[in-house]
Amino acid sequence: MIMEKSEEARLREEIRQLKDILDARNEQIRKLQASEKKISTILDTVTDAIISIDENHRIILFNNAAERIFGYSRNEVIGKDLNLLIPSRYQNHSRFVKRFLKTKTPHIISKTLSLTAIKKGGEEFPIELGLSYTEIDGIITFTAIIRDVSSQKRIERKLLQSERLAAVGQTVAHVAHEIRNPLMIIGGFSQQIRKSLSDDRLIQKFDLIFDEIGRLDRLVANLGDFTKQYKLVKRPSDINAVISDVIKIMREIYPSEKYLFDLDLAPDLGEIICDPDKLKQVYMNIIANGIQAMDKGGRIRISTLKNGEEVEVRISDEGIGISEVDLLRIFEPFYTTRKSGSGLGLAISYRIIEVHHGEIQAVSKPGQGTTFIIRLPLEE
Ligand SMILES: Nc1ncnc2c1ncn2[C@@H]1O[C@H](COP(=O)(O)OP(=O)(O)O)[C@@H](O)[C@H]1O
Ligand SMILES: [Mg+2]
Repeated sequence: MIMEKSEEARLREEIRQLKDILDARNEQIRKLQASEKKISTILDTVTDAIISIDENHRIILFNNAAERIFGYSRNEVIGKDLNLLIPSRYQNHSRFVKRFLKTKTPHIISKTLSLTAIKKGGEEFPIELGLSYTEIDGIITFTAIIRDVSSQKRIERKLLQSERLAAVGQTVAHVAHEIRNPLMIIGGFSQQIRKSLSDDRLIQKFDLIFDEIGRLDRLVANLGDFTKQYKLVKRPSDINAVISDVIKIMREIYPSEKYLFDLDLAPDLGEIICDPDKLKQVYMNIIANGIQAMDKGGRIRISTLKNGEEVEVRISDEGIGISEVDLLRIFEPFYTTRKSGSGLGLAISYRIIEVHHGEIQAVSKPGQGTTFIIRLPLEE
């Protein structure tokens, strides 16, 4: 077929135009791909978790930090309901989303919220969260930027605890000092008066006075014990061996029919520089508390673990547990809920761990047992 010249020119022109359009499209696609790559690199470099959900509450984006913070891989969560990451008591979250979609009134959009979330193993942890939403071509996406604030919260709690203990410690030292002098005077003069007495009944009463003075004196000495600076005798020691020693003693004191001791010791713990005798005292105090919390008997679990730059010892019991209010006070000197308690066991333990530059923490709910976590730095 012979085409007319003008027809051919027209076709050529059309093809050229199409090619131009195609080139422009390709260039657009290339730019889009580049910008998508940029965005996904940013998403995966930020240290905060970024999670997006669609309007059906399904996860559609989960960045690297989210994988690290929540412990799930992307494949495990994409397409799943966001409730997977939310403690069950907050799971009316999906209703908020529905309500938002209906009313579009942003109550929480663009505010920072303090909440808790759940990791893969079921562990709950504190987070701070900022929320945004976009609507493109009628498709709605919610995006949350989430920061894990566990360690921040831990440091805050530790500071608060240390401040409280320091304040109580100072008062205690002051009171002890103020009691000592009058006590000496009362004791000395009573001694003199007693020597001059001949009435047996009066002498007996003075002996009672001396008994009580002795008791006060010992108490004051104990207070001094608590407030004095701890002198550590440090040497390289194997924490597993320290724990084994403690358990040997505990098994002898507490009958095995009633109390069981489970050990789960990490083989790679190595040695740390510490005062093993003082640490023994700490572990014994905590185990004794655990046993006292289990009137009817039960199991004490002790595990050791190397965790980054720390050695972690966990001591759990199946006892009565500790209320939230008591948890704030158990490390205070003289705080006790037991009839014959002194309230000094945990206060002294706290001091010992503090001078080791470690930390000690209790996790408990009434009726569900208690776990003490003691962390010591591998090196100082
Ligand atoms: N494992 C535990 N289970 C339940 N309560 C505990 C446990 N450990 C400590 N406590 C609480 O902390 C308080 C303080 O403990 P402590 O300082 O050892 O003093 P004490 O044992 O003399 O009471 C206890 O009286 C108890 O209320
Ligand atoms: Mg105790």
